[in-house]
Amino acid sequence: MILDRLGLSVSWGDLPAGLGTLVPSFLGATAGGSENLNVFDPASPPAFAIRGLFYLVLGITGVIFVLVEGMIVYSIVRFRRQNDSTEEPPQIYGSKPIEVAWTVAPILIVFVLFLVTVRCVNDVRGQGEPKDALHVTVVGHQWWWEYWYTDFGPDPKQPLIVANELHIPVDRPVVLELKSADVIHSFWVPRLQGKTDVIPGRANRTWLQADRTGLFLGQCAEYCGSQHANMMLRVYVDTPEEFSTWLDNQKKPAVDEPRVRAERDFFLSQGCVECHVVRGTPARGTFGPDLTHLMSRDTLVTGVVANNQTTLRDWVADPQTIKPGCLMPDMHLTRSEVERMVAYLLTLK
Ligand code: CUA
Repeated sequence: MILDRLGLSVSWGDLPAGLGTLVPSFLGATAGGSENLNVFDPASPPAFAIRGLFYLVLGITGVIFVLVEGMIVYSIVRFRRQNDSTEEPPQIYGSKPIEVAWTVAPILIVFVLFLVTVRCVNDVRGQGEPKDALHVTVVGHQWWWEYWYTDFGPDPKQPLIVANELHIPVDRPVVLELKSADVIHSFWVPRLQGKTDVIPGRANRTWLQADRTGLFLGQCAEYCGSQHANMMLRVYVDTPEEFSTWLDNQKKPAVDEPRVRAERDFFLSQGCVECHVVRGTPARGTFGPDLTHLMSRDTLVTGVVANNQTTLRDWVADPQTIKPGCLMPDMHLTRSEVERMVAYLLTLK
């Protein structure tokens, strides 16, 4: 996992920039606490299924390894050339029972592995419609995640859309439909579900049901461009009460604080509105993350840095330093313009 991250966060063509992105990617993992990405510590049925399959395959292949290696070692020792012997050992050609055995046995083993793998793939994808499921459509973008809560929204046709931090209630099945806005990504939260590709023009499916509360981290697992390694996943498993509090807040339009009206108008006069939504204002661009409740998120830049006044200021002033190659341009704002913009953004709780 760490090697994967190291390998993919450095862009060798542009080493200084690559090293720059390497450090924040680790900070981002720690920003919310737990760094546990261990597939052997599952917390959801598909992840348990994958661990079970791993142990089964390891067991079967382990027995084969010991048998084959054992026979080789035994043969080497038992039938090694004796010093005083000049005779050739007896030459044996073919043995039907042995040949049948070593053809049939592997076929049976491969067949068993095939069956258990198919069963595991189905467990990961999930079948049918679990009772009381929550439905979320995941949309992968270069390089961030969007979540559409299709069960809730201002009106039934319009899902509630949030960015980058997925909140789900504990002990409740969550069916995820995976779509991409651009290139192939892969949705992978190792302790909760199985790695599932996110492919343009196609809807894939996976599901999870977290058995404990807390933060679960993941990572885009398909190389998708220069910021692939910084396309991190954060799943917050809440108690039902926490989840409904969070949901109620997300459903509201953006707060409209009179004391930052001038700053808001400045924000709305800028190009930001072409790419970002702030519900309840004329900002309706859908190319970038929804900012309606920006400050309800723990992290900024898809989990790269903690979300606070300082990082927000740095980000607005110069996105290309924090996330080189990202699709948010440097707006060339003056220092005071950045301050005005941040003053407004900070109110979006
Ligand atoms: Cu998205 Cu890699």
